[in-house]
Amino acid sequence: MTSIETEANAASPAAWQSALKIVIVGHVDHGKSTLIGRLLHDTGSLPEGKLEELKAASARRGVPIEWSFALDAFQAERDQAVTIDTTQIRFKTARRDYVIIDAPGHREFLKNMVSGASSADAAILVVDAAEGVRETTRRHGYLLHLLGIRQVAVAINKMDLADFSQARFAEVKAEIVRYLDGIGVTPTAIVPICGRDGDNIASASQRMPWYQGPDAVAVLEGFQAQDAATDLPLRLPIQDVYKFDRRRILAGRIESGVLRTGDTLLFSPSNKTARVRSIESWPQDARPGEAHAGDSVSIVLEEQIFVERGEIASHTEHPPQLSTVFRGTVFWLGHAPLATGKSYKLKLATQEIPVTVQSVEKVIDTDSLAAATAEEVERHEVAEVILRSRRIMTLDEFRAIPRCGRFALIDGHETAGGGIVSMEGYPDQRQALHVKATNLTSVEHGVAADIRTHRNGHRGGIMWFTGLSGAGKSTLAMAVEQHLFKKGYHVYVLDGDNVRHGLNANLGFSPEDRVENIRRVGEVAALFADAGFLCITAFISPYQADRDRARKAASGDFHEIYIEADLATCERRDPKGLYRKARSGQIADFTGISAPYEAPMNPELTIESGDRPIEECVHEIVDYISRAFRLN
Ligand code: ADX
Repeated sequence: MTSIETEANAASPAAWQSALKIVIVGHVDHGKSTLIGRLLHDTGSLPEGKLEELKAASARRGVPIEWSFALDAFQAERDQAVTIDTTQIRFKTARRDYVIIDAPGHREFLKNMVSGASSADAAILVVDAAEGVRETTRRHGYLLHLLGIRQVAVAINKMDLADFSQARFAEVKAEIVRYLDGIGVTPTAIVPICGRDGDNIASASQRMPWYQGPDAVAVLEGFQAQDAATDLPLRLPIQDVYKFDRRRILAGRIESGVLRTGDTLLFSPSNKTARVRSIESWPQDARPGEAHAGDSVSIVLEEQIFVERGEIASHTEHPPQLSTVFRGTVFWLGHAPLATGKSYKLKLATQEIPVTVQSVEKVIDTDSLAAATAEEVERHEVAEVILRSRRIMTLDEFRAIPRCGRFALIDGHETAGGGIVSMEGYPDQRQALHVKATNLTSVEHGVAADIRTHRNGHRGGIMWFTGLSGAGKSTLAMAVEQHLFKKGYHVYVLDGDNVRHGLNANLGFSPEDRVENIRRVGEVAALFADAGFLCITAFISPYQADRDRARKAASGDFHEIYIEADLATCERRDPKGLYRKARSGQIADFTGISAPYEAPMNPELTIESGDRPIEECVHEIVDYISRAFRLN
């Protein structure tokens, strides 16, 4: 059971687990290390003899005391449990314990932040009073915002270099407030300090009597611990599975929520459920039969179901989402740019899944906050991208469950980026994936498929039309149906607006309802095809994943036909007046306007319906079908 032991050894002692976790960020020479060294000293947290050592070393070199050397003592402490090393520096104030996650200058700093190897309750952004706000200051500020760290204090350091000037302080303060305001961050305090001499660190500075606010330690004491992950829905990513005298033991760390003996767990993405027979939790002093966010546990289930590393256990209510696609806001650190079409390994909780960049939606300049369109994302840029996988991914919205809504992208062996998940506009695919009923037995037809084909003179199959509303799907489908019928085909059109009046009368246009709409139509079309019909479907079917599932549902011929007309053309045509209504806000979730449309990646046929006569398009499709289905 090695990996449980490793996990256990790596966890901090209980006292430090409840400590407030802070990060100290800012431009490289603006004095982060000095501030930390001074905080350690002024709160009496330096190891025995360290101060004398620092004094002696500095005196020997004839320089003022160098506080940043104080950090060396802590550099040795490494947390080996995570793939990326983190350095933790601990100190206490009268009120509570603190952990500074990551030492400044630590090369892995940004990676830890974005990949979620570390997560902080609060942050101090350090700015040099003389130099003012630099590009890195803004980038770090942006990262804090991206990662959802809402408590940010600003320390304006090296006030000695600005002659302790109130006017200079006001200037730098205005500059940083303007930036933070632009990204929706309101600093909890802005403190003028001189880290080296201890001004406004743990006591009010005599040299800046004009400043009446709290000192740095008081600011730290005023921070709130973030909402305990215990209050969130349960997430237990499975790290390892061990076989033990015929039992299976599942091991992992609870990322959020509470787990109790007797709970029914739902595993994602396999969608299997089982009851918890027993929990062996660490630390040992936890209450028996119960474990919480942050605990490493190993559990035994009542039913011996097959579960693998990478699955995430939850309760049956509030499960994570299942999807083959999501929108990520990514902070890119790779040497090679991130680009459309490239593939990476996604790490999210214990999942490792190959993903491909489907598109780069926009690149955000963290300096000016301007958004631009681009095909590539360079090192240190932030971008919104659409990531797609073949395998189903288990995802949470970062907003809802931060630790399971954060991911890293691996390029070869390099952690090339990290980001957060948004499912906006994308449906949970869970309901379309699984058969609910059990105890089912399939029966065979007495009429074989080739006998139907022989009598009909053609095979059954599906012509799946997809495209924007107004692209011409229904018009073309009905015209093609007429042509083929005359030629003797057994052919029938399933059309969106029609089917939504009957079979799918209970469905609207939310992402989940569209998934269900297309799932049902995919199954019905498969039945038609099985019955020997040529079935033409005319649905927007905006999600590639749904069209792929319809293809899978059809056992035989499935032809994806993209009826292509761009948004401007469809909007100009606006046959039902719906675009006008959507633009004026009378229709929500309207495809192309306020809901996504994913154009087919590999359609069997593309019909550009833009400015061609209908007859021409109809002939092209009929020709294609005649060739594909060959009526004898
Ligand atoms: S799908 O997205 O679920 O595949 P479907 O093809 O069934 O959509 O229905 C689309 C038709 O419904 C459109 O052609 C349009 O007439 C109508 N409609 C009404 N509301 C919407 C909406 N919000 N988005 C798209 N189409 C809508």
